[in-house]
Amino acid sequence: MGKDTNLQTIGDNMTKEEIIDKIHNGGKRMPQVGRSMEEGDIDKVAEWLSTLKSNAAESANEPAA
Ligand code: HEM
Repeated sequence: MGKDTNLQTIGDNMTKEEIIDKIHNGGKRMPQVGRSMEEGDIDKVAEWLSTLKSNAAESANEPAA
């Protein structure tokens, strides 16, 4: 997450499980944000992010096409 990343359609590329791993482990530049989060919140945010798809026109996050 940050200016070089865009999570708005992350569900096209990552599963919930992969997002959970990312939150726990971070990356080259992403910190291990899971260290300061409740496990239940990690699960919930990963669940939600995994539903964000570019073709989800009915999504509450996207304007109607
Ligand atoms: C709950 C909070 C966060 C979530 C759910 C999250 C989630 C993600 C995900 C799913 C990716 C992969 C994106 C992709 O491959 O296209 C990513 C990448 C990244 N995130 Fe986050 N992120 C969070 C917080 C942060 C914070 C606080 C920072 C920096 C201070 C950060 C910096 C980055 C960077 C730089 C990347 C690019 C890959 C890397 O260098 O590790 N993220 N994030």
